[in-house]
This record gives sequence, structure tokens and C-alpha cells, in this order.
Amino acid sequence: MSTENNNQATFPATRMRRVRASDWSRRMVQENQLSINDLIWPIFIIEGKNKREAIKSMPDVDRLSIDLAVKAAIEAEALGIPAMAIFPSTPTKLKTASAKEALNKNNLVNSCVRAIKKKGLNIGIITDVALDPYTSHGHDGLMVGDEIVNDKTVDMLVKQAVVQAKAGCDIVAPSDMMDGRVGAIRTGLDKAGFEHVQIMAYSAKYASGFYGPFRDAVGSSGALKGDKRTYQMNPANSDEAMREVALDIREGADSVMVKPGMPYLDIVAKVKDTFGVPTYAYQVSGEYSMLCAAAENGWLDHDSVMMESLMSFKRAGADGILTYFAPHAAKLLQGK
Ligand code: PBG
Repeated sequence: MSTENNNQATFPATRMRRVRASDWSRRMVQENQLSINDLIWPIFIIEGKNKREAIKSMPDVDRLSIDLAVKAAIEAEALGIPAMAIFPSTPTKLKTASAKEALNKNNLVNSCVRAIKKKGLNIGIITDVALDPYTSHGHDGLMVGDEIVNDKTVDMLVKQAVVQAKAGCDIVAPSDMMDGRVGAIRTGLDKAGFEHVQIMAYSAKYASGFYGPFRDAVGSSGALKGDKRTYQMNPANSDEAMREVALDIREGADSVMVKPGMPYLDIVAKVKDTFGVPTYAYQVSGEYSMLCAAAENGWLDHDSVMMESLMSFKRAGADGILTYFAPHAAKLLQGK
């Protein structure tokens, strides 16, 4: 749509406030809608039974043992949330340089997927493909010397994705930013008979300070040596994001993601306008935490900034939002 409309009369014939005067009229002219179908709920899991651990930097977000994660999935399905993403907080003793726990078919994530899938719920389960929960150095890839090596990491990621598919996940989401991983994972999944498993590619994932609370949640912040700037994108770049997305689509991604969310809505809009593929945005941990912290201080109204921030993703063109607010927002949208 052109912003310059030459047929539009000027004031006083045009009064923009006319349609804003009442609730019914505001609803009638509303351009974008946020629905429960737009929400994807990321959760954190831990070992143990009936265990719930608060995450200091993420108010109201807990690490859950698998039995409680199953309950969360049942709750999510009842709320109408279409999908959940599962992130493990791996015990330190299982983290190694080779990240071999990533390939353990009975690791936390895979066991959790199987436990949820047994319930036969109408909800999609997304698993993260990346090595950072399993490496002793906290990087998403394998290290040789100081380098995060690409191709050897991709070989591991393919195996990790296949193990997750075997556990029953519906969507694998590579969040590692290695080159060529989407194509390799697609080929690996197909060869293993998982052509029905979707790939949601973290295509434009930036090296961001907003991931801090997440790294607390999964216990990788202490471990992380250095930063992730040799594989995650420079926040200054936009054209590069288009190239990343184009490659992932060509390699077989079913949907793409931009991450973080709110500081990168320009990228979300450009991706959706350029490619017209299912486009998701991740309202990451730091975005969640800063809104909650301000609300806890009484500086912002929690629910209104939550809904406004979620709507901003829809306005930018996102088809859905990964957000820790998902259950709370779903309840509000249900009128509960
Ligand atoms: C790691 C991964 C990260 C997030 C999702 N997957 C952190 C990172 O790249 O360091 C961040 C999510 C969030 O901050 O909410 N592969």
C-alpha cells in the first residue's frame, strides 16, 4: 500500500479521529489481529520428578521436570496454543567438548518429547538443534583450538536432529547458525524416513545481549567462553539477513525465524515482504525479562505492554511469536 494517497481529502473533510471515537469502530478498522494461534511457548526442562525451579532473571518462568512439562503441554493444548519449544538445562557433569549428550536418545529433551507425545495431544513439539546445552564451553558448535568448526558441527547437528525426530518431535529448529545445516538436516531426516518432520530455521539469528537470561535458564552462561559473533549475525546488518533466509529456504526450511524480536522488527517485515514464507519471530528472554522487571517496579503495566509487544510482531508481518508470555497471553485472549 502506498502511504501517499493523493485521493485523500485534507482536514477538515478528513478527520482521522472520527473512526477512533468508539470501541466498535476501532475494532472495525483494526488492521491486525493477535490470536492464540500466533503463540509458541518455549519451556525449560530439568532432571528429576515433580520439580520446579525458579529462574531468577525470568519472573514467572520455571525450569520443569519432565512430568511437570507434560502437565504444561496439557495446559497449553487446553489453551489452544499450537506449539511448544523445549530447551534443556543439562547437568554440568554431562557437558563435554564433544557434546556427545546431544546424541543420547534418552537425554532430557528426547525423554521429554516422548513423554509429551505419549499423551496424543493436539500440539506441535519443537526441539532446538544446536550443541550449546551440551558443550563444556557453551558454544553452539564444536571447537578445534579457538575456532567453532562448521562442517564437523553440521555432521553432529544432522545426527542430533534425527535422534530428536526418532523421539517424536514435529519440528526441528536449528538455532546454531552454522552454514549449510538446513540442507544437511533435510537430507539426513529424509534418509532416516522423517520427511514429515518440519524444519523451522533460525535463519536470521543475531549475536545479541538479549539472550542473557536464557543462558542463565539453561546454565550455559557460566560455561560460555567468549562470544558467538563468528556464527551469529552482526546486529548492524540487514541485507545479510535476507541472504541467510534465502539460503535456508533453498535448502528446504519450512519456516524461518528472526531473533531477537522487538529490536529486529524491521528484519521481520523485510523477510515477510521479500519471501512470503511462514515467518516467526522470537521474543527472547531479555525482552521478556525487561518488560517483567519494569512491571514489577510498577513502571509499566504488565498486561498492556505484553499485548502491545505481541501485536507489534503481527503488525510487522510475523506469522507467529515464540514468547515466554504465551500461556499468560493465551488466557487474556480467551478472556480468562
Ligand atoms: C542456543 C539458543 C539461544 C536461544 C535459543 N537457542 C541462546 C544463544 O544463542 O546463546 C535464546 C533464547 C532466548 O534468549 O530466549 N542455541
